[in-house]
Amino acid sequence: MQITTFGSDSPPFIQRNPPSTPPPSPVQDSISQANQNPSIYPAASILPGSLAIEEDAHIPLFDLDDIENAPTEIRKELIKQFGDGLKDIGFIAIKAPSLSAIIKDVTKSMKTYFALPLEEKMKDWNSDNSKGFSEQGRETAAGATHADRKETFFVPPHFKKWPQTPPEFGQVMERYHTELTNLAIKVMRYVAEYLEEPTENVSETIDTAYNLLRLAYYPAPKSEDHPDSVWANAHEDLNALTLLPPTKVPGLQLFTKDERWLSVTAPEGSLILNTGLQLERLTAGLIKATLHRVQNPGGKYTYQARHSSIFFASWAPEKSLAPLKKCVEKITENMSEEERTTYLLQYPDVTVQENLISRLIEMGTIPNPTREQVAELHQKGLLQRPPLHVVEEFSDLFNS
Ligand SMILES: [Fe+2]
Repeated sequence: MQITTFGSDSPPFIQRNPPSTPPPSPVQDSISQANQNPSIYPAASILPGSLAIEEDAHIPLFDLDDIENAPTEIRKELIKQFGDGLKDIGFIAIKAPSLSAIIKDVTKSMKTYFALPLEEKMKDWNSDNSKGFSEQGRETAAGATHADRKETFFVPPHFKKWPQTPPEFGQVMERYHTELTNLAIKVMRYVAEYLEEPTENVSETIDTAYNLLRLAYYPAPKSEDHPDSVWANAHEDLNALTLLPPTKVPGLQLFTKDERWLSVTAPEGSLILNTGLQLERLTAGLIKATLHRVQNPGGKYTYQARHSSIFFASWAPEKSLAPLKKCVEKITENMSEEERTTYLLQYPDVTVQENLISRLIEMGTIPNPTREQVAELHQKGLLQRPPLHVVEEFSDLFNS
């Protein structure tokens, strides 16, 4: 099975310190559980106070021009702050005033598109779910009891099957894709500088055909929605790094190291940047993929929809994610030999494609993996949290 690499707004399975982790279940089980419990909740209980997140994460904001034009010593300090932001928070913001016009066009086009009747949008659905339109209920977090309440439109590179409405949709999204690919390459160079690695070890292949744009429409909550059903359940991104503009309706939240959910906001004219699992693997966890989710924040936003244009930068499927030596040295410097060995078991030498397939199996997006797939991934140290039905079907592999 050939699946091109993609970042995901889907929730992966492995969650560090998750606030609540229901037992894992395959996608269809989750959906059917939700359907069997069609509780009707009054509007007032859609967002109980405990779900409302008011505290802001205060992510640092960087001007890439300042870094570019700074004298050597100041540049060194700015790169350190930039990388530390990714290492310590996993989310930063970067000024991008030159992209304001295209972001406005993207938002306008996607609002028009998602306002179309569902049957119209379903004409843009593709059976492999990696491009075009996906309706609500298509994605459920492994471990979650309810499907994400979102519609999405996936734009892979060189996409050709554009919707008819609005007519400018394809042209606008192509331009945005190109602009953000260029920005991702630039950002990756700074990441390489922070890691003290040759650029080719980090930013290589970002400019080729593996970056994906995902347009997401999160409908306004309705009184009949189950309170546990959110816009996007807690997850880490599967790609290298993610870029997305802040939205008028907030909802993006990150999970802190001290186990709190905080709102992620950024000024208009900037982009939010967060790191994904590919970068976490390559850096042996020095730059982790931070757990995050999207949910209606309540208050004056309780009945508002949200639109987000999320760009996932990714490395090529064949790239090795074996941790970089300097990163291993940094992250394990205070560990005993035994601790170091145990720690590094989390980061085996796997490729981008192997990591992706393993996570898609864990998430239930590949519901029926072959025995060969499961055996190979398990043997490589992947599939650490497989869905129950996969463990049951291949119990001999997991018990060996
Ligand atoms: Fe995400």
